[in-house]
Amino acid sequence: MTAFRFTTAGESHGPGLVAIVEGMPAGLELDREALDRDMARRQLGHGRGGRMRIETDTAEIRSGVRHGRTLGSPIAVLVANRDYANWEERMNPWPVEGFEPDEVHLPRPGHADLVGAQKYGHSDIRNVLERASARETAARVAAGTLARGFLTALGVEVHSHVIQIASVRAEERFDLTPADFAAVDDDPVRCLDPEASKAMVAEINRLRKANESLGGSFEVVGFGLVPGLGSHVSWEDRLDGRLAGAVASIQSVKGVAIGEAWDVAGRPGSEAHDEIFWTEEQGYQRETNHAGGLEGGMTNGQPLSVRAAIKPISTLTKPLRSVDTETKQPAQALRERTDSTVVPAAAVVGEAMVCLTLARAYREKFGGDHIDDVLGAVEAYKKRIDFKG
Ligand SMILES: Cc1cc2nc3c(=O)[nH]c(=O)nc-3n(C[C@H](O)[C@H](O)[C@H](O)COP(=O)(O)O)c2cc1C
Repeated sequence: MTAFRFTTAGESHGPGLVAIVEGMPAGLELDREALDRDMARRQLGHGRGGRMRIETDTAEIRSGVRHGRTLGSPIAVLVANRDYANWEERMNPWPVEGFEPDEVHLPRPGHADLVGAQKYGHSDIRNVLERASARETAARVAAGTLARGFLTALGVEVHSHVIQIASVRAEERFDLTPADFAAVDDDPVRCLDPEASKAMVAEINRLRKANESLGGSFEVVGFGLVPGLGSHVSWEDRLDGRLAGAVASIQSVKGVAIGEAWDVAGRPGSEAHDEIFWTEEQGYQRETNHAGGLEGGMTNGQPLSVRAAIKPISTLTKPLRSVDTETKQPAQALRERTDSTVVPAAAVVGEAMVCLTLARAYREKFGGDHIDDVLGAVEAYKKRIDFKG
């Protein structure tokens, strides 16, 4: 059986993006509207730039699904770049007669521009930035929605919210339930704390006027997971490592925390761990969740919490100092159309990466060619460990 995996292809202003997801079980019913909804959610958030007004993304399934159900074969999803019409000469896969593109020689500090051009031997930095750009995350979100469809069938929900934008922090919440996320997408910065949300919007407006960009942090939360996804026996199988890697691979994410990681680091042990209780009706229970749902690299049946720190966007409307790679003279970095903050959107990409990582863990643990095989295996496992959650 093919292992669960996914890949993306595509450049920011090329003809389009592609995601291919392999290893999904057959017979899984997919929700077409959920796909459109997630694509639109990635475009949300106060502080996004011009691109979000140019195109509303749609994801078209090109293989692996028939009449709304998976076939068990690779699923290919296409996300067209509507803006390609304006870039057809510059980004054409083939030479365009009588047209020579202007090369980009002004690398942005904090972007992939300089090192990507050095590593791949490009004199035109556009050959790097077109792929390094987080436009690629549209394909990750498309793939993530397919993974989410699989998780939904297993009773798993994955949500996200913004915790911090620049210096403004939302009130800490450790008691979140799925119901808390019902209206999170209606908030302009996808924050669950209305007061902090207002302050975040004001801070974005203030810093944007000052030609600044803003970072922040978000949390992805997973509910309904069985204990025992991932494994303690091999470093490669540890789910904490996989989740951290998947979320850190999102453009501009610079730190990932599992549960209350950074806070726990400063506490005595007696305040750091989640004591274990057992009752006949509920089985094993905890009163706290400092560990964020993971112990020993495995889910423990508690809600999963993965937090990520995002640096400020590196394209600035008042560019930083750089060097012209042709002349080697001091120059200002490239000015491209840019977002001023992407934390709300990055949180949606975070959901996608968590969904894809969890889907892989479920596929590895429970196998099965048809979704009913998976559901049967999950039920049998829950019964064996007497999991009532
Ligand atoms: C959803 C999203 C949108 C982004 N939009 C921009 C942008 O408009 N301008 C920019 O300079 N960087 C943007 N970034 C960040 C860059 O893609 C990222 O900084 C760059 O690829 C270098 O990678 P690194 O920051 O992980 O080192 C965005 C990131 C995300 C997650």
